[in-house]
Formats: sequence, structure tokens, C-alpha cells
Amino acid sequence: MRINIEVNGNLKTYDVAPDDYLLDTLRADNIFSIKRGCETSSCGVCTVLMDGKAVQSCTILSVKAEGHKITTIEGHQKEAKKLSEHFGHQGADQCGYCNSALALTVHAMKDEIKEPTNEDIKEYLVGNLCRCTGYEAQHRAIKLCLEDDE
Ligand code: FES
Ligand code: FES
Repeated sequence: MRINIEVNGNLKTYDVAPDDYLLDTLRADNIFSIKRGCETSSCGVCTVLMDGKAVQSCTILSVKAEGHKITTIEGHQKEAKKLSEHFGHQGADQCGYCNSALALTVHAMKDEIKEPTNEDIKEYLVGNLCRCTGYEAQHRAIKLCLEDDE
């Protein structure tokens, strides 16, 4: 079946099967910033924004994205650069496998919660796992990135 999705501001038409997942449809379109991890909605590395909300693309059927706006890190270059600079300064940058998903989730949090507390940030990012860091350096970098906007 054919579906239409706006991806990073571009209208795309995809031929998909009823049981195709968004992760596979977008990666087949060469959007490799979306990573594959657990495929069970547990690790968060496949996160994309759907109409501005962070969702796990590994468990969303592609047909569910019909008519929606999907944003990946390719559509958020400026913010991704800013967050990655803070990551570098805070020593939070390691393999980078989780970074794109984390940056998108931070973006969704900024839209949803004004002036998030430390606890808000930790709670919001609980679904974004990182196998390299102890999260403290990431947390510092995210706080500084949020303060950058003020
Ligand atoms: S690959 Fe989607 S949540 Fe882990
Ligand atoms: S930096 Fe390696 S998984 Fe997060």
C-alpha cells in the first residue's frame, strides 16, 4: 500500500506492507541517523518526532505515520550541533549511537516542559538508554544546552 508522510519538511510517498515498521521504512529511504537497537520500545535509539512528539519508530507501523510529520535529526541540524558541542565539553560523547535519539527527545521535552527541573529531565529521558556513559555527563550537557536558549 502507498502512504504519504512528511519527512523533515519533504512530502514522501512510500510503498509499504501492512506489517512494516517506521524504522525500516525510513532506513530504507537512507535515513540512517535512526538507529536500530532493542526493537521492543525499550532503548530509545530509534526515536523520531511524530508531529513534535518523541516516538519509538521500531514499534510504530509505517501505516500509522500516514499523513503525519516525521522529524529526524537531519531536520534538526542546528540544535543537534549545539547539543553535541555541549556533549563534547562535558565529556558525554562516546560512541554516539544514542546521540541522535537523545537530541530529538531533548527537543520534544523543550516544547513540552518549560524550565524543566533536574527530576523532570531525568524522568523525560528515562526511555533513552546509553550503553557508554553514566548519564551524569549527558545530564550536565543537556542542562547547559537548555540554558543556552534562555
Ligand atoms: S530500537 Fe526502538 S526502542 Fe530500542
Ligand atoms: S554514547 Fe554510546 S550508546 Fe550512548
